[in-house]
Amino acid sequence: MILGTGIDLCEVSRMGAKVQAPADDFVAQVFLPGEIAYCGAKRHPAEHFAARFAAKEAVVKALAGAAGEGSFWQDIEITNEQDGRPVVRLHGRAKEMADALGVRRVFVSLTHTRDLAAATVVLEG
Ligand SMILES: CC(C)(COP(=O)(O)OP(=O)(O)OC[C@H]1O[C@@H](n2cnc3c(N)ncnc32)[C@H](O)[C@@H]1OP(=O)(O)O)[C@@H](O)C(=O)NCCC(=O)NCCS
Repeated sequence: MILGTGIDLCEVSRMGAKVQAPADDFVAQVFLPGEIAYCGAKRHPAEHFAARFAAKEAVVKALAGAAGEGSFWQDIEITNEQDGRPVVRLHGRAKEMADALGVRRVFVSLTHTRDLAAATVVLEG
């Protein structure tokens, strides 16, 4: 049973500016070490950061029925299988929300170009 869906777009240039700003702790606040390592190792890191940011926003939208106050970006982690497939891992409050909704599986798909990144998410119960 589908319990929720989410979609989000993120401009790569906006993410690039945030990622490169030296005094900005945006990256450390939003992304987990594994995400930072994955994106940082790519030729165009901002594209991958933007895709992950879009995925986190898409998860928040999908969980909207259960979402409370405050941000929980680091409770939503995007990892990749060996073949490249992205996977959503929920921690902390995001996991509690998903559990409360009865979510058993989270499906995610990412795409990115030089300009835009997008993500879609489906919650299955
Ligand atoms: C999966 C694939 C089609 C991505 O297409 P693309 O147009 O080059 O790139 P996009 O920007 O649309 O998507 C990139 C994202 O796809 C996702 N992805 C990678 N491999 C994937 C796979 N096997 N299945 C699903 N998603 C995958 C990743 O999330 C990636 O972004 P990330 O590295 O930031 O996590 C491409 O990597 C590919 O051809 N892989 C070879 C295996 C395959 O299945 N080919 C299709 C033959 S029809």
